[in-house]
Amino acid sequence: MHIMIREFHHIGLRDRNSFGVCQQAARLVEFETPDDLRDFFAPGIPDRWTVLAGGNNILFTEDYDGVLLTPVARAITPLSEEGDTVRVRVEAGVEWDDLVAWAVDRGLWGIENLSLIPGRAGAAPVQNIGAYGCEAKDAIRRVETFCVESGALLTLDAAHCGFGYRESVFKHMLKGRVIITAIEIELSRTPHPKLGYGDVEREVAARGGATLHNIREAICAIRRAKLPDPAVLGNAGSFFKNPVVEAPVAGELLARYPDMPHYPAPDGRVKLAAGWLIDRCGLKGCREGAVGVHERQALVLVNYGGATGREVIDFARKIQARVREQFGIDIDTEVNIL
Ligand code: EPU
Repeated sequence: MHIMIREFHHIGLRDRNSFGVCQQAARLVEFETPDDLRDFFAPGIPDRWTVLAGGNNILFTEDYDGVLLTPVARAITPLSEEGDTVRVRVEAGVEWDDLVAWAVDRGLWGIENLSLIPGRAGAAPVQNIGAYGCEAKDAIRRVETFCVESGALLTLDAAHCGFGYRESVFKHMLKGRVIITAIEIELSRTPHPKLGYGDVEREVAARGGATLHNIREAICAIRRAKLPDPAVLGNAGSFFKNPVVEAPVAGELLARYPDMPHYPAPDGRVKLAAGWLIDRCGLKGCREGAVGVHERQALVLVNYGGATGREVIDFARKIQARVREQFGIDIDTEVNIL
């Protein structure tokens, strides 16, 4: 089915970013297929453009004077089944959580811990979304992209995507050079419950054991209890990344704060919990005008209504400065700042 491609000029973005900031874009063009993108770029690459998918991980700090490209293709297509392994192609515009629900309904394991993460499938590889001991990279096998300069299609195997904690090649080398049009994921018919993170095991047990549906429900319940619903309170999930520090730095902090959460990173460094650091600065629930630190999860900044992107970023800079002052640690933004 071909979806009608729409184009907007001087469009208000309030309903297209989960922070709910009221900035405008000069132009927004929806696309379905690589051919749409080819047509779009044929007259020349505009000076300023970027992809706006679900708008769940973005903060507009001013009006955007370029072109926003929005994926609208939403097909989920099983490609092959071999042994217990099922390959599925997912177009960029699919709502990530619809994909998780689709997999869980079909008895396919692999992404159930990533239930209820807001955003579109095409954005999942960009920051390698993750939660509750799982990351998108565990399931993603290939990423299909449109190469802006050449107009060619470029498919990357997962090994070439540079996946790391909230990292990929799409945030760095390929930023502004390719547009993700689809992903291919691999799911399994064999149960692989991952219950090791936080309250997951207890919440799953309370629902009667580790079935796919129970895990999905448990994860949804944990998220709903901690994370604000963007439809009610504007936010973009974790605003900051958890900092990864050298082992001696973590050691010094642990001597001062023995209860500080810390997790070994694969490279020998140590990941700290930015939410805990902000919380320990006494900032959880603090508010300035229409912007605040969420009351139940300090990693999340919220728009109580009417905040401008500028107000949010100014507030975020103050939080970063306070954490630096108290702990000597820099916390980077996880959200894409425009
Ligand atoms: N903590 C506090 N106070 C807070 C928040 C956290 O003390 O206000 C402590 C917790 O008690 C826990 C530790 O910090 O000991 C970690 O907290 P949590 O398990 O809530 O996870 P997180 O590190 O704050 C990360 C992801 C979330 C993901 C959760 C669960 C990042 C930047 N965030 O948060 O992802 O849902 O783990 O896996 O890695 C997102 O990226 O938007 C997001 C919501």
